[in-house]
Amino acid sequence: MGSISLPMTEMTEAKPVTQTAARPVPTLPDAQEVTEVQHYTDRLFRFRTKRPQSLRFRSGEFVMIGLMGDNGKPLLRAYSIASPSWDDELEFYSIKVPEGPLTSKLQHIRPGDRIILRPKPVGTLVHDALLPGKRLWLFATGTGFAPFASIIRDPETYERFEEIIVTHTCRDVAELTYSREMIEGLRQDELMRELLGDGLDKLRYYPTTTREESPKMGRITTLISSGALFSDLGLPPLDPAVDRGMVCGSLAFNLDIKALLEGAGLREGANSEPGEFVIEKAFVG
Ligand code: A2P
Repeated sequence: MGSISLPMTEMTEAKPVTQTAARPVPTLPDAQEVTEVQHYTDRLFRFRTKRPQSLRFRSGEFVMIGLMGDNGKPLLRAYSIASPSWDDELEFYSIKVPEGPLTSKLQHIRPGDRIILRPKPVGTLVHDALLPGKRLWLFATGTGFAPFASIIRDPETYERFEEIIVTHTCRDVAELTYSREMIEGLRQDELMRELLGDGLDKLRYYPTTTREESPKMGRITTLISSGALFSDLGLPPLDPAVDRGMVCGSLAFNLDIKALLEGAGLREGANSEPGEFVIEKAFVG
């Protein structure tokens, strides 16, 4: 593995001090310090960084982040900001791809390391791109949950909608940990409890797995087509008059669910022309 040309807080036997690390460290453009790293599985981790004071963003947007590449040029990828806009820090949720140019290195960051963060947030998974509605469906697979981690911690979400349903489909149970812990945490948070209503059921969670036994199995697309999603939740089928959707997952997932939403009469929206649902690809994969 090539070495990261960033100052690491610590050198291990597995990662000896190399020529690159010993050279004077170039000033990183838009450097931000990593404050926390948590690994969930050998494929998934979350990390937090300090937030530039000037960085304003709308919940659900993404920024370009990365590391200095071996060639001395920034190696950047789009990452949804998983933290809400009121948070002092920024949070990101990432896959680890063994051969991935960025994530093969990014997975080794530790608190105190610095990453590059271009402070220009953009994106479609924002409230402004949706017409007003009653019920908000957040459909995620894998790391596609990241923008929704921001949206479900934003009070505006609960002001705009009467009910928010988060579906998260992963291969196995361990991959659901990030979303499950976050939703459990919100239900116990004093301030969030006020937003979630008396029964805390304003935010509903519908996790499913496809490759490991769990209480609910199957792709969410299959569960929509069969009607199981709606009967499980005691809700009527999708209706463009009341339902709004945000979608974030792999390209194949996005295309399949887009067809289902359009089949139910919902139209895709954008910042320039709000609609009944919006879609963004979960970027790093
Ligand atoms: P499956 O296991 O049947 O492929 P990944 O980890 O590969 O990004 O996938 C995350 C989850 O998304 C998996 O549970 C996977 O199911 C599911 N998935 C992948 N493609 C689609 C699709 N086109 N429609 C619905 N779910 C999908």
